[in-house]
Amino acid sequence: MAKKEMKKILVTGSVGQIGSELTMELRKRYGAENVIATGRKTEPSEELRNSGPFHFIDVSRIETVEEMITKYDIDTVFHMAAILSATGEKNPQLCWNVNMNGTINILELGLKYEMARIIIPSSIAVWGPGVPLENTPQETVLQPTTMYGVTKVCGELLCDYYVARFGLDIRGLRYPGIISYKTLPGGGTTDYAVEIFYEAIDKGRYKCFLGPDTKLPMMYMPDCIEGTIQLAEADFSKLKHHSNFNHAAMSFTPAELAAEIKKHIPEFEITYEPDYRQKIADSWPNSIDDSAAREEWGWRPKWDLAAMTEDMLKHLRERHAAGKLYG
Ligand code: SER
Repeated sequence: MAKKEMKKILVTGSVGQIGSELTMELRKRYGAENVIATGRKTEPSEELRNSGPFHFIDVSRIETVEEMITKYDIDTVFHMAAILSATGEKNPQLCWNVNMNGTINILELGLKYEMARIIIPSSIAVWGPGVPLENTPQETVLQPTTMYGVTKVCGELLCDYYVARFGLDIRGLRYPGIISYKTLPGGGTTDYAVEIFYEAIDKGRYKCFLGPDTKLPMMYMPDCIEGTIQLAEADFSKLKHHSNFNHAAMSFTPAELAAEIKKHIPEFEITYEPDYRQKIADSWPNSIDDSAAREEWGWRPKWDLAAMTEDMLKHLRERHAAGKLYG
């Protein structure tokens, strides 16, 4: 008999951009002591460390994860630890090791300890050449050209295999670029859409590593957290998909984002100097069709480009005024 779900939750990658905010929200909803935050190397923020249990682990070393699962009698895992696309291109072996061995370790421990639920995010990086670029459908060819994308496709297939073969309850969504003001992202191709806000406030200008017309799917953090928890809490029997839900909110280019920022900071200037990340961005879709998520678990985004930009600037301006823009 599988354990009762969402009583003791382990979050891997809790120091990361999404993990840090997800952990705090889970602690609010499920009780601080019931959400065990873990990270690999980076020191957690004071908020994360002081609000509940925190430990260092390495998801590619199964014994370090198993220790947490037995110590806290974990029934649910949010597996957020991953190496992203840009870092993955610089160090493909590290990306494979963390993303693939980390994922299979979580799945194997899920079986061994009869876990109730495992959430493993995927990404827009699963796509590559050959997909329709606008409104990319849920079911389409997956031929990524980055190591990160390869690990995300393998991860989705592996998760679906564990659902079908062993009946493990696994859920996952294909995140677009995530924009937030609490924790900086690291090593992603969509990171420009966060950096631009910090530099707009700090310096009034930004040199973008993608070209002006590179349109990518994006999402504001509150939608990302809400969607992730909503999928985690959805009725498993109603899900036809499991580990690969397209998850969308908005799409824009660097030029469109800059124009939106200029509405609030008229003197803001953007210049473009595309680097190796341009090729990665060019291999991804412009916008994605998330109707499966809408139909199967009721997904509805709340934030668009205008509202997100206003909110980002408001929060970062407050931090800047307090002399703590970068935390
Ligand atoms: N934000 C990720 C990246 O840019 C995409 O999932 O790598």
